[in-house]
Amino acid sequence: MAEINVGLIGQGFMGRSHSNAWGQVNRYCNPAINPVMHTVAGLPGEDVEGFAKRWGWQNPSTDWKATIANPEIGLVDIVTPNFMHMPPAVAALEAGKPVACEKPIAGTLSDARQMAKLAEEKGLPTFVWFNYRRAPAVAFAHKLIKSGELGRILHVRARYLQDWAGEDVPMAWRFKKELAGSGAHGDLNAHIVDITRFVAGVEVEEICGAYAETLVKQRKVLIGGTGAGISQDELIKAGANSGDTYEDVTVDDTVAFLVRYTNGAVGTYEAARQATGHKNDNTFEINGTKGSIRFSFERMNELEYYDARLPQGVQGWSTILCTNASSHPYVANYWPDGHLIGYEHCFISQALDICNVLGGKEAVVPLPSFNDAYQTQRVLEAALLAASEKRFVKMEEVY
Ligand SMILES: NC(=O)c1ccc[n+]([C@@H]2O[C@H](COP(=O)([O-])OP(=O)(O)OC[C@H]3O[C@@H](n4cnc5c(N)ncnc54)[C@H](O)[C@@H]3O)[C@@H](O)[C@H]2O)c1
Repeated sequence: MAEINVGLIGQGFMGRSHSNAWGQVNRYCNPAINPVMHTVAGLPGEDVEGFAKRWGWQNPSTDWKATIANPEIGLVDIVTPNFMHMPPAVAALEAGKPVACEKPIAGTLSDARQMAKLAEEKGLPTFVWFNYRRAPAVAFAHKLIKSGELGRILHVRARYLQDWAGEDVPMAWRFKKELAGSGAHGDLNAHIVDITRFVAGVEVEEICGAYAETLVKQRKVLIGGTGAGISQDELIKAGANSGDTYEDVTVDDTVAFLVRYTNGAVGTYEAARQATGHKNDNTFEINGTKGSIRFSFERMNELEYYDARLPQGVQGWSTILCTNASSHPYVANYWPDGHLIGYEHCFISQALDICNVLGGKEAVVPLPSFNDAYQTQRVLEAALLAASEKRFVKMEEVY
């Protein structure tokens, strides 16, 4: 069996989820090419040896440039903060290596454009970890709509709400424009713009209004720790241990916008980090002329479906448990019917599809490339423009 050595750049929250995926994919699945966990690169202050040992990486490193330059590395996987996506991605592409990169593809549209352009010039495979595409219910929804089951798409409604970023949470890279690019917008709206493009097959033509607001304007400067991750308990503890110095938050906490798509359908998007009571509420609803679907990640094994072709007396929303190996994408790799899967399985399934594509096979459902993620980033940029200039923005204005 052919193998490819993976070099992982970063070892925080996504470092853990990707490490798990690279470690598990050969166990659960039969990828066309086997990933080998060759090197993980962290920051000098991090416990890189401990991380490598715990997650099964052969070599720890504190030098991401050397990791990418190592001729033994065949695939570079980037899980660093958003401002640090472009430098390793460019280094990897220049070295002739395929790249997998976390979302949003970059902190700025300009970085995203350069990354997509270079990937195209080099003709190398690129992948962006819009992992929610690989929840079986979401992949199934994509297939249902593609086969025409919902008819013509009329409405898309998407929201991604979390509540981890209360006033007690201290400063972290996610609250700084120069490190993150944007706040809830790039973090959460990026996912739902991608997921709706993927599931409904729609492309935004125009943003018809938007707001972008920072609700917590200052945060305590963190003393000690990294401020990494979004675990509310850990962040509040870190905040309690911090002093009384405050810094300005320079990104949004919430962004909402309305769109018109090229096919004439309309859509709404909302992202928030202080939507009290919503933990990881990545939800979309799509209405077509023949039926509708609804999904929320907090019940990720389920897809709600309304078939408007049934006799009126028996029409109603049904809840499909998407755990059937022969009907629902990816499930055959995991457990029998009704034995639920979780967040980490979306990443394992993405690792599977990446290895299949690199090994010459097709992905189960399409993988987002750098160019795909750049198109998503254009929508995000257009929404920010609509919010700051308080006007409609056509997509052709933003590139
Ligand atoms: N797909 C998803 O569902 C999902 C979820 C969370 C985060 N993300 C994305 O993953 C990326 C990382 O987020 P995270 O939550 O893992 O962050 P994190 O803060 O937990 O970890 C980031 C890691 O990057 C490395 N790093 C930080 N600064 C660096 C630098 N200057 N040079 C080299 N390495 C550096 C460190 O190893 C650090 O541990 C972000 O782009 C984020 O948007 C995606």
